[in-house]
Amino acid sequence: MFTLDKANVWVQDVIQKITDKMDWVSEKSQAKIPYTTINGVHDDRAIDNPTHTVTDGINWWTNGFWGGMMWQMYHETGQEKYKKFANILENKLDVCFQDYYGLHHDVGFMWLPTSVANYKVTQNPESRKRALHAANLLAGRYNPVGEFIRAWNDLNGEDTRGWAIIDCMFNIPLLYWATEETGDPRFKQIAIKHADTVMNTFVRPDGSVNHIVEFDPFHGGVVKTYGGQGYEEGSSWTRGQSWGLYGFMMSFRHTGKEEYLNTAKRIAHYFIANIPESGIIPVDFRQPKEPAYEDSTAAAIAACGLIEISKAVGPLEKDLYLGAALKMLKALDKTRTDWSRDCDCILKNGSAAYHNKEHHNSIIYGDYYFIEAVFKLKENDLYIW
Ligand code: GLY
Repeated sequence: MFTLDKANVWVQDVIQKITDKMDWVSEKSQAKIPYTTINGVHDDRAIDNPTHTVTDGINWWTNGFWGGMMWQMYHETGQEKYKKFANILENKLDVCFQDYYGLHHDVGFMWLPTSVANYKVTQNPESRKRALHAANLLAGRYNPVGEFIRAWNDLNGEDTRGWAIIDCMFNIPLLYWATEETGDPRFKQIAIKHADTVMNTFVRPDGSVNHIVEFDPFHGGVVKTYGGQGYEEGSSWTRGQSWGLYGFMMSFRHTGKEEYLNTAKRIAHYFIANIPESGIIPVDFRQPKEPAYEDSTAAAIAACGLIEISKAVGPLEKDLYLGAALKMLKALDKTRTDWSRDCDCILKNGSAAYHNKEHHNSIIYGDYYFIEAVFKLKENDLYIW
């Protein structure tokens, strides 16, 4: 049986390691928008990098996470430098609003850990305006007949007008926030419609979830499902399970709707039942044994969601969720972290997608959610979702 008290010494130790590492990495990468590391050094997704396209440059969906790391560190340490570095990144993202064309549904991932976090901490009116602007862009992607939020813009000529993806459960908290902030119910109404559609069409009876569901954009209704970033259609991409698990928990937190808590628990039960003895999470729970591709980011995100569920359930159920979260986080800390000065990253062995050429690299959201999870265990995370 795991309890927070028993985990406490370990939590303090990891927080010390995070604090030590972020102290110098934040200085070194303060002018960057990192996604991964190349030979141990953070890359930079900012607009002045000529190697990036309209989607994977300044509009890249992960561009808010470095800002989120800075806000979590500011919340933990109170050091002004973290606020300054978070602001450098947030200002850079303004060009996305001006360009408009590269934007997609991931405006939640981009402006929740930046502008919403900033506004929650500092009440900066400029950040409020940016976050409301992003919320309006997200609301504008809602398809009222199909009752879903469109995910991406057309991909390489492929018509994606009817596509929704599980990841969007992390974007809709921007809509909940917009209603909570303005009192205008439209944003929350859209978020609830989308969450209901996802609950009814993405989540399978065994608690696993689809990555992509295509709806008829004119008449509504499911057309087909896709394996997306997982192994194949009908398989179980682990990061998608994590987005669903934690995503429904957030929707429960913002709405109080019990079905969302139950859905989060159902996905969690499937996830927990599939955690290997090692605590190391594969890219897809239904992938072949070899190659043994893994995804540290899925573990870190799921751990955050499991800790949140453990706070919402009674004492008899708590340990199931907290124990699973601790098992994965301890496995990551023991074998999949780099606390040295040789690399700007914390977590190793992330995998963006099963069929990508590259596996087992560092990915910024792995670091973000690992930090968030550990601060949650200390009961001192900045809640930005
Ligand atoms: N949101 C896309 C991904 O998880 O890779």
